[in-house]
Amino acid sequence: MPILRFVNTGTEVEFSDSVALIEMEDHIMFGCKSGNCGTCAVRIVSGAENLSARTDREHRLFELTGETDPALRLACQCRAFGDAVLFEIN
Ligand code: FES
Repeated sequence: MPILRFVNTGTEVEFSDSVALIEMEDHIMFGCKSGNCGTCAVRIVSGAENLSARTDREHRLFELTGETDPALRLACQCRAFGDAVLFEIN
């Protein structure tokens, strides 16, 4: 079973199939939930290969903010297919 681990809290969430990170409201703070505000930004510590590719909304927001770190993702735009370790930014 794939596991998402949250570095900030040390919690782990096990899931049986792919999971949209937007479902992790108990572990990640969300705002707009549409890729516009950046509230849900997380740094992928490991397991980036197990996440969906960046969406156009992520590319647009990170370009607007000048953020170039490829490990940053917007949780509201991201889906996990396997194990990953995340650090919540906000
Ligand atoms: S909640 Fe606003 S960008 Fe994800």
